[in-house]
Amino acid sequence: MEKSIVSVSFVCLGNICRSPLAQGVFEDLLEREGLLEKVMVSSAGVGNWHVGAEPDARMQKTAKARGIVMRSRAQQIQASDFRQLDLVLAMDQSNMDALMHTARTDAEREKLKMFRSFDPEANGDLDVPDPYYGGDKGFDLVFNIVHRTCPKILQYLRQHYSFL
Ligand code: 4NP
Repeated sequence: MEKSIVSVSFVCLGNICRSPLAQGVFEDLLEREGLLEKVMVSSAGVGNWHVGAEPDARMQKTAKARGIVMRSRAQQIQASDFRQLDLVLAMDQSNMDALMHTARTDAEREKLKMFRSFDPEANGDLDVPDPYYGGDKGFDLVFNIVHRTCPKILQYLRQHYSFL
């Protein structure tokens, strides 16, 4: 039987700012498109400092103001996660470097892409800037990048998975 679920994960450093926002925005998009049962969405961090924590309060506030509720709890990516994932999106290059080490086979490494490689306004800058040590503007910037990029990721999935 043809596989009819695709599994996507967003990965940043702590899994409390960028990647959980991407998860929330992507899930909101999937809900509006009636695709929540066909695309499994998760997020994770390459680090373990915040495991179990809810998203950063500043990120939640920015998201809520734009209609996105963030419900995830932080987890750390595990090598075994790669088996069931189809697409793993790194939020910046250091996350990508860590993920390249976590993946165990070439087939698993081929599942990795930079999140901003789908950003129509990336202009060669493929890092979603880490907002953790900065002010509110950093969270707005992250929101804007994630919000304009998620529809392009869905477009990519639709081109590759005929059941979407
Ligand atoms: P995130 O942001 O990777 O977007 O979740 C960070 C969260 C925590 C830390 C750094 C970045 N930290 O150093 O604890």
